Amino acid sequence: MNETFRWWQRGIIYQIYPRSFMDRNGDGIGDLPGIISKLGYLQWLGIDAIWISPIFPSPMADFGYDVADYTDIHPLFGTLADFERLVAEAHRRQLTVILDYVPNHTSDQHPWFSESRSSRDNPKRHWYIWRDAAPGGGPPNNWISVFGGSAWEWDAATRQYYYHAYLKEQPDLNWRHPAVQTAMLDVLRFWLDRGVDGFRIDALRQLIKDDRFRDNPPNPAYRADQGPYHTLLPLYTTDRPEVLDMVARMRHLVDQYDARLLIGELYLPIDRLVTYYGVGGSGVHLPFNFHLILVPWQARQIAALIETYEAALPAEAWPNWVLGNHDQHRLTSRVGLAQARVAAMLLLTLRGTPTLYYGDEIGMRDVAIPPELVQDPWEKNVPGLGLGRDPERTPMQWDSRPNASFTTGIPWLPLAADYPVVNVAVQHDDPTSMLTLYRRLIELRREAPALAVGSYAPIEASGDLLAYIRSHADQRWLVALNLGPQPQRFDARRVEIQGRIVLSTHLDRAGEVVRQTITLRGDEGIIITLG
Ligand code: GLC
Repeated sequence: MNETFRWWQRGIIYQIYPRSFMDRNGDGIGDLPGIISKLGYLQWLGIDAIWISPIFPSPMADFGYDVADYTDIHPLFGTLADFERLVAEAHRRQLTVILDYVPNHTSDQHPWFSESRSSRDNPKRHWYIWRDAAPGGGPPNNWISVFGGSAWEWDAATRQYYYHAYLKEQPDLNWRHPAVQTAMLDVLRFWLDRGVDGFRIDALRQLIKDDRFRDNPPNPAYRADQGPYHTLLPLYTTDRPEVLDMVARMRHLVDQYDARLLIGELYLPIDRLVTYYGVGGSGVHLPFNFHLILVPWQARQIAALIETYEAALPAEAWPNWVLGNHDQHRLTSRVGLAQARVAAMLLLTLRGTPTLYYGDEIGMRDVAIPPELVQDPWEKNVPGLGLGRDPERTPMQWDSRPNASFTTGIPWLPLAADYPVVNVAVQHDDPTSMLTLYRRLIELRREAPALAVGSYAPIEASGDLLAYIRSHADQRWLVALNLGPQPQRFDARRVEIQGRIVLSTHLDRAGEVVRQTITLRGDEGIIITLG
C-alpha cells in the first residue's frame, strides 16, 4: 500500500472500555492483564490500534474520567509494569496503543485540587476556576453541568465557587494558567516516553471557558427529553477560540516524537469540528467525527452528511468516522441487528479512519440495567430520560460459559441475557456471523487500497438506497447499501457498472457477476469490484 499514508490513516481503531473487556483477577472489573490476554483476538480481528478509556488512579466517580494521578495505573487495572508489558505485547503484534488523556478536569481527590481548595492564597489556587458568589448570592452565572445542575460548587471553607463542566467531583482545570499547561504537557511526555502511540483527548471542546464568564443564552430548540444541560446553548463554555492555542501546544509536543497521533473528542457541528485540524496542521490529527451516530438512518441524510463533511475538510486533513462509543447507545440498539451489518459495511468502506467500539463486532446490544444496579452518575443525577451510559458498557461476551468468561467474580455491570448465543466463540467460525462480516470487511479494507485510502464519489442516494464508488490508481469499488427491509433494484444510469460481488452483508454472494442493474435484498449491502 502507498507508503505516504500514516498508520492511523490506513488503520482501524478499536475502543476498549477497560472495566468491561476482560477481567483476569476475578474482581468483576476488567484489567490490563485481561486486555493483554485478548491481544491475539484483536490481531485476528485485524484492527490496527487500541484506544483504552482511562486506566489511571481514580475514585471512579465518573469511572476513570475523574483522574487523581495522571502518571500511574489504577490498582484495579494493574501496575505500570503491566502497562509496559501491554505496550510491548501490542507492538510485537503490530498493534498501536492510544491512551485517554483527560485534560479538562481532574478528580476532586487529585492532590492539585486538595491544595487549590486549601486556601485562597495557596500557590495552586488558580490551577482551578474559582469565583465569588453572584452579587445577590448564589452561583456566579447560569452555567450548567453536562450531568445536570449548576456547574458551580460552593466551597464553604474558602467561601468561593469552583467550576465543574461535569460532576462536582471533576473540577475543571484552569488552562489559562501557564503552570497548568506545563504540568499537563508533562503528562503527555510521560506516556510518550513509555511508547504510547497516541491520545484521545477527552472533552476537548470544554478546555477553555469565557474569560468574562458571560451567561449562556437559552436554547430555543430545547426538548425536555434532552436533559437540563440542553436548556442553554453552551456558547461561553465550549469551543472557545483559545482551545486551538492549547491544542497547538499539545501537537507541537507530540510532533517531537515519531508518528504519534492526537484525536480530539469533539461533539460539534461539522463546520466547527473541522477547525480542530488547526491552521497548517497545528491541531489534532483526527477531530472525532460522531455525525454517523447522530444522523437519522436514511440514505439521503447519510449521503448529505458525507458530502458536507468531505467538502468541509481542509486541504491535507484526513477524515474519520465513528459509529459507537462508551457514551452512546449501542449501534445494534439504535438501528437494529439487520441494519447494524449495513452500518458496519458503511463505516468500513468510507474514506477516513474508522473507530469501532468493543462488542459491536458481535452485535452486542444495550442492556437494560435495573435501577438498583445503575452505576453511571449521569443516570443517577438525571434519571429516566435514557441518558445513562451503563447499557452500552456491559461486559464483553467472549463465550457461552458463566458470565461469558469475562470474569470469575461478580461482574460490575450485568451481562446481556443473550450472551450464551451472542458471543465471540459462537461467531468465530460461523461463516455468516456478524463477527465474520467484520473480519471480512477489515480484511478487504486492508487488501484494497481503494477502500482504505481511495477517493470517494457519490453515485446514488434515494429511498433506502445509498451507493458510492471508492477509487485508487486503476482500482474501483462500488458499495451499494440498502438501508431498509424491502428489496431494492438499482439501475445505475449515470455510471457504467460491470463487476463482481466481493462481499455481501449476508456473506453469501461473493463471485456473482453484476451488469448495470443491481438487486439488493432487504437490509443488504454489497461491495463490487469494478472492471
Ligand atoms: C467525555 C467522556 C465521558 C466522560 C466525560 C467527562 O465525554 O467520553 O465518558 O463522562 O468526558 O470526562
